[in-house]
Amino acid sequence: MITGASSGIGAATAGVLAAAGHPVALGARRVDRCEEIAEAIVKDGGEAFVHPLDVADSDSVRRFVAAATGSFGAPEVVVSSAGDLSAELIHGMDSEEFAAQLQVHLVGAHRLVSHVAPGMVERGRGDLVFVSSDVVRAPRPRMGAYVAAKHGLEGMVRAMQMELEGTGVRVSMVRPGPTMTGMGMGWDARTTELVLSDWAKWGLARHPYFLRPEDVAAAVAAVVGAPRGTHLALIEVQPEAAVTKPKENR
Ligand SMILES: NC(=O)c1ccc[n+]([C@@H]2O[C@H](COP(=O)([O-])OP(=O)(O)OC[C@H]3O[C@@H](n4cnc5c(N)ncnc54)[C@H](OP(=O)(O)O)[C@@H]3O)[C@@H](O)[C@H]2O)c1
Repeated sequence: MITGASSGIGAATAGVLAAAGHPVALGARRVDRCEEIAEAIVKDGGEAFVHPLDVADSDSVRRFVAAATGSFGAPEVVVSSAGDLSAELIHGMDSEEFAAQLQVHLVGAHRLVSHVAPGMVERGRGDLVFVSSDVVRAPRPRMGAYVAAKHGLEGMVRAMQMELEGTGVRVSMVRPGPTMTGMGMGWDARTTELVLSDWAKWGLARHPYFLRPEDVAAAVAAVVGAPRGTHLALIEVQPEAAVTKPKENR
């Protein structure tokens, strides 16, 4: 099961896991985009199922999990990638909008957990993978609600890792750095300029390279493909800088 599968990292993860032989259940609000991704997966010989999902709505999460389970059986792997990002200063932000970010990234992840983890614990196996963000290690300005939500997410996941140790259920985090996806693509030019200049000011834009969604999906695949007896609890993925000629003073 993959949430946020209509775009970016979630969509790429669906493709990579399907190619590795997993039947994949894609959930997001834009079902038409999920259908296109599913069609491509099936064309390549994989198995895919699509169902509408809004992680901000408990009933929608319940229906998604029930439908996907009805189609493919109890989930072995659940990837929580759904998320959005509003670029605003914290003090200028409407509190409802602040809460909406927590609803999607934090409470949304918990909604998923509450529907899939009990069964995994009962069966004594499963992988729960949460897409976090490098903002937890190095916060970025103009996205304070997002930073708070991802901190909350990592806190919840770390507590779950302790609670589920020894159950056979591995709970993991993949923490991407800047990745070229749909995120931030809806901002106007002025917002993008302000965000990027703040990144530069705080030393968060050392080079211009972004990860591709497939690069992050490869990390998710590594987490779920890790042999039993191994737990890749946290992987941070960063874009590699361009290779420069060695300098004498290096
Ligand atoms: N891009 C980056 O630089 C970056 C860096 C670090 C972490 N991340 C994390 O990576 C994850 C995926 O984001 P992305 O970069 O791949 O962005 P993206 O291309 O915009 O994809 C976001 C996905 O989340 C879905 N989504 C948003 N709100 C949802 C909701 N309420 N219910 C269900 N699905 C919802 C979107 O689908 P619908 O709109 O169709 O619902 C879309 O499929 C997010 O958790 C994000 O925080 C991204």
